Amino acid sequence: MKNNRLVIISYRLPFSIKTQNRVTTIKPSAGGLVTAVKSLDLSASAEKPIWIGCADFTQRAWEKHREEVGDDFEYVPVFLDKATNKKFYNGFANSVLWPLFHYFPSFVDYHDEYLTAYQAANQAVCQKVLELLRPGDLVWVHDYHFLPLPQLIRESAPTATIGFFLHIPFPSNELLKLLPKPCRNYLLNGLLGADLIGFHTNDYMIHFLQSVQLSLGLPHKLARIQHQDRNVQCQAFPIGINYSLFYDAYDKPEVVHEREDLKKSYPGKIIFSVDRLDYTKGVMQRLDALEVFLQAHPEWKENLVFILVVVPSRDEIQTYWERKQMIEQAVGRINGKFATLTWVPIVYRYASLAFPQLLALYTACDVAMITPLRDGMNLVAKEFIASRQDQRGVLLLSELTGAANELGEALQVNPLDEYEVADQLNRALTMPSEEQRRRMAVMQKRISDYDVKQWAGDFFDSLLVSQRGKEISH
Ligand code: UDP
Ligand code: G6P
Repeated sequence: MKNNRLVIISYRLPFSIKTQNRVTTIKPSAGGLVTAVKSLDLSASAEKPIWIGCADFTQRAWEKHREEVGDDFEYVPVFLDKATNKKFYNGFANSVLWPLFHYFPSFVDYHDEYLTAYQAANQAVCQKVLELLRPGDLVWVHDYHFLPLPQLIRESAPTATIGFFLHIPFPSNELLKLLPKPCRNYLLNGLLGADLIGFHTNDYMIHFLQSVQLSLGLPHKLARIQHQDRNVQCQAFPIGINYSLFYDAYDKPEVVHEREDLKKSYPGKIIFSVDRLDYTKGVMQRLDALEVFLQAHPEWKENLVFILVVVPSRDEIQTYWERKQMIEQAVGRINGKFATLTWVPIVYRYASLAFPQLLALYTACDVAMITPLRDGMNLVAKEFIASRQDQRGVLLLSELTGAANELGEALQVNPLDEYEVADQLNRALTMPSEEQRRRMAVMQKRISDYDVKQWAGDFFDSLLVSQRGKEISH
């Protein structure tokens, strides 16, 4: 790694530049991918890494504001034309691949023109990579926006070292089979252009290996696939977080200050959740469970609050803006049903949170209620655990997240079963502090041992092994 320059490619750059009424704001991007890549410790690398992403701003805005976005990476935005970007991002990436890979086939809205735009966007990004690529570089492609990119790069740079990491689940072949055959094979062959393909869990990796075998007829041995004249290694790397960043934040004055404010405003128990606006996150089912809980446990009336934060995301897509309306209606209905003149059960915010606010909520709450219907990993769950220097608080976690594999001491629930969730919520709210401490301590040890640094380190080690293997065989 020391001698290799890193070239990272993801759809999202870690910032967005928005100009409205001539006022420009630069905001950090939300989501697990950006959190992880931003937290990489690259101080040991000899050269500044390059981060290529798709711009949600104009070339002019970039020229004006590029100095303001920080210089940990050399950022290289790719400017796609508006129509292509829309069909690529809103269309194929988020209305075909996202719902399918998260087991929401009925939300898939497949159109050939979306696939055409996806191919064009991958070509445009490939072009940018090829312009910048130098011998010895490590190329690291991220996520479902760029499944074909490894093979596209490989066609023009046959000896390049290319790693790919998928931040979402890889679904069972039964789901993948719903795509037209040429499309499915194009995506699988695209990924096989990489030397190393990383997944969050073994299950996702096995799904991929099975799909490659069933669709392309390529067998695998020890998670390695022989493709043309190369070996493609697959491996699970459960993504970690920057543990010390969250752990150390507990005492920071701005976090302490926000936490004290929260405790003053909400003296009873606090239940907290934060997710991007996304149907995969199960916010509606979470609200159903809360309703069942409030009905079954009137003793909690006026003694708790549920702080529900939904971070704006993909709101040009119908399934997303519809979800926002559904959530807001449900919040209104439940508050109307249970509120008293001096109390409401749900405090709802549709906004992104600054770091001190997020940390104050992680550390002030009694229960973090994280119940996605499907999630590749879920970093929020790990961040909550890491933040709790006081070893208090209970994690109520969906068993349908990748994080559930590593967080066995959480209270795990089926997010679709509102009665189980309501029951476990009551258990969480009444859990003795000694038991909270015991569970926290085990989970903290586990996620601090495998933090984001370890995750990236393992990925690079495996990638360098395949690079060396290629050098020997040439
Ligand atoms: N997050 C954010 N903005 C916010 C609140 C949270 O960027 O206003 C971060 C959060 O700290 C976490 C990430 O977004 O690192 C969410 O990652 P997760 O894996 O839980 O879900 P994703 O959004 O990637 O599906
Ligand atoms: C998930 C995806 C990321 C994506 C993030 C935020 O974490 O795996 O690729 O960046 O959600 O979504 P957005 O569409 O706003 O980039």
